[in-house]
Amino acid sequence: AAASALSMLASTAFAASLTVGFSQIGSESGWRAAETTVTQNQAKERGIDLKFADAQQKQENQIKAVRGFIAQGVDAILIAPVVATGWDDVLKEAKEADIPVILLDRQIEAPDSLYLTAVTSDQVHEGKVAGDWLVKDVGAKPCKVVELQGTTGSSPAINRKKGFEQAIAGHSNITIARSQTGDFTRTKGKEVMESFIKAEGGGKDICAVYAHNDDMAVGAIQAIKEAGLKPGTDIKVVSIDAVPDIFLAMAAGEANATVELTPNMAGPAFDALEAYLKDKKAPAKWIQTESKLYTQADDPKAVYDAKKGLGY
Ligand code: AHR
Repeated sequence: AAASALSMLASTAFAASLTVGFSQIGSESGWRAAETTVTQNQAKERGIDLKFADAQQKQENQIKAVRGFIAQGVDAILIAPVVATGWDDVLKEAKEADIPVILLDRQIEAPDSLYLTAVTSDQVHEGKVAGDWLVKDVGAKPCKVVELQGTTGSSPAINRKKGFEQAIAGHSNITIARSQTGDFTRTKGKEVMESFIKAEGGGKDICAVYAHNDDMAVGAIQAIKEAGLKPGTDIKVVSIDAVPDIFLAMAAGEANATVELTPNMAGPAFDALEAYLKDKKAPAKWIQTESKLYTQADDPKAVYDAKKGLGY
C-alpha cells in the first residue's frame, strides 16, 4: 500500500508540472457544459495547469486557440473538434512543435499520426443502439420518424445518422420522413420540431423523433406538447447523451430512451498523456467510451438523482 501511495504521489507531482491547453467547442448542450466541468475538475485533481479556450462553435476560433497554445509552449493540447475536416495544417504545426494533441469526444478526418489519441464513443454504434431500440419498440407497426441532426459536418451528426439508418435498414415499416440539423441545442431542436409537426399534418403522422442529443430532444418534447400531443406516447422520443434532464422527462413519461455518453473524456485522456510523457508509452489511437442504453424501465428518477453532481 505504501508503494502504491508513493507512486500516486509521484504521478500527481509529475502532472503538477504540466500545462495543457484545452480548445472546447462552446456550451451548446448540457452534456458539453458537463464535459467542461469534468475536464477542469480532472485537471485540478491532478495539479495540471489547464488553459481553457471556448471556441463559440467556430472551427476558426479553435484553430486560433491551438496556435496560441503552440506559441505558449504548452506540454499538450486537448481539442474537442467542432467539425470533422480541416484540421491537418494546425495539427502538423503542433507535431512540428513536438506537442501531443488529444481529441476529445469527436473524431476527425485526418491521418492518425497527427494526434496522440482520440477519446470518443463509437458514434455509429450509438445511433445503432438508438435505432435498435426503436425497431424493437415499434415492432411491425408503420412508423414515420423525424430526425434532429447534430451540428452539420460534426462526427457525431454524421455517425449517429449512419448508425440509426443501419438499425432501421431492412425494416420497411420504419422510414425517416424528415431530417434536419438542430445544431445540438434545445432552442433549435424545438424550432425544427415545430416545423416538422407543421409539415406532417400537425404531428399526428409522426410516430417517433430521433434526436442526436438529449438537449434537442428536450426542445422537441416542448414543441410536441405545444402542438397538443403527448411526447413519449403519441410521438416516441429517443436520443443520445443521458443528461439528467432527459431522465426527468423519462420519469414524466415524456421521453422513452437515451444512450449514455460519459462527460468524463478528460480522465482517460490525462491518464494516457501522463503515461506517454513519463514513459513514452504511446496509447492506442482510439480510447473508446461506453454507450449504454437507458429506457423507462431503468428507474429514471433514481438515475437522475445519481447523475446530479457528476459535472452536470
Ligand atoms: O460530441 C458530443 C456531442 O456534442 C454530444 O452528444 C452533444 O450533446 C454535444 O454537444
